[in-house]
Amino acid sequence: MKKRIAILPGDGIGPEVCEAATTVLNEIGTMFQHQFEFVYGDLGGIAIDKTGNPLPKETLTICKNSDAVLLGAVGGPKWDTLPGEQRPEKGLLGLRKELGLFANLRPVTIYDALADSSPLKDEVIQGVDLVIVRELTGGLYFGEPRERRGEGKEELAVDTLVYSRKEIERIVRKGFEFAEIRGGTLTSVDKANVLESSRLWREVVDEVAKEYPNISYSHMLVDNAAMQLVRNPRQFDVIVTENMFGDILSDEASMITGSLGMLPSASLSEDGPGLFEPIHGSAPDIAGKGIANPLATLSSVAMMLTYAFSMTEEADVLSAAINDVLEAGHRTADLTSDERAVLSTTEMTNQVIQALTKKAVNS
Ligand code: NAD
Ligand code: IPM
Ligand code: MN
Repeated sequence: MKKRIAILPGDGIGPEVCEAATTVLNEIGTMFQHQFEFVYGDLGGIAIDKTGNPLPKETLTICKNSDAVLLGAVGGPKWDTLPGEQRPEKGLLGLRKELGLFANLRPVTIYDALADSSPLKDEVIQGVDLVIVRELTGGLYFGEPRERRGEGKEELAVDTLVYSRKEIERIVRKGFEFAEIRGGTLTSVDKANVLESSRLWREVVDEVAKEYPNISYSHMLVDNAAMQLVRNPRQFDVIVTENMFGDILSDEASMITGSLGMLPSASLSEDGPGLFEPIHGSAPDIAGKGIANPLATLSSVAMMLTYAFSMTEEADVLSAAINDVLEAGHRTADLTSDERAVLSTTEMTNQVIQALTKKAVNS
């Protein structure tokens, strides 16, 4: 099969982890006789430096004309003092909105080999297999008005949290669909004891639930959910929640696996190309050192193979290769305190390639 993939390396460690992704995609292309064509675009800080715009028109066109989009990460201290509308993150938010990527899937998968990497006890994390279904194009991130008013002691900053019934319905339905596919349960996370938008959210969940009589579901307040995720993460299967809560809970959930550098994501629309990216950011503290963990991005590639291209065998082989590499004891710096055992981004990627090659030989 021939597939065109828009690659948006972005800032900080973004280019480093994207290089890992294209190397691995090329290997999978060779193994399975696919042609992956990469078209590069600028997004975020690098785009600001080149064009003054965090989401240049050309980048958007490249993405719209592709079968899938792979993103590294955007942002960094260099652009932190720019006004909100001109920041690198605004480019990513604009891209999500323009591509209609309302459904963000963030699976949390435990690798047995990484049991020691998590700050949580083995008995707490064993068997965890959950997915956060995060609403991605609404809520506080996009509500209007968003502004600064007044001056001095009278100054105000305004963000608006708004959700329409339609927006809630479509993401909640995705949550139930995933619970159905996984044969599992759904936890809807909100703050209905305080927020009006959460009270509407809860009403909609109860209504949509009627279409899925076989799925057992419950509501949970977000503060409790944050606590339950570390107390007993096994109780969760599919978590559906609004934009900001999903952002925060997914970084928290990444530590169940041992590192933020492990968690992938897929952002999907009703039709059009999906966007695949690690959930972590540009990691300015380690950028340029060649030590970033590429596995979140490589798992995002596995999600791309599954969701964008329906290449489930290819995705399974890649996920198995990642597992093999971890089982063999290979670790990037974020996964171990043993400095002698530390691999660079490139070395870790090469281990994944070798594990893939072994699978090709054995099949
Ligand atoms: P971050 O996710 O970049 O980093 C948090 C910590 O995790 C850092 O110590 C970092 O070194 C570590 N880390 C992250 N990814 C890693 C990896 N692959 N391997 C090893 N260690 C890793 O979060 P931050 O520091 O709060 O944000 C930095 C910048 O990234 C900000 O400008 C922020 O807006 C941006 N950001 C972008 C995205 C995105 O593009 N999707 C996501 C989150 C944050
Ligand atoms: C993420 C990031 C983004 C978000 C930022 C960079 C806009 O934290 O993808 O998790 O908050 O959605
Ligand atoms: Mn985030």
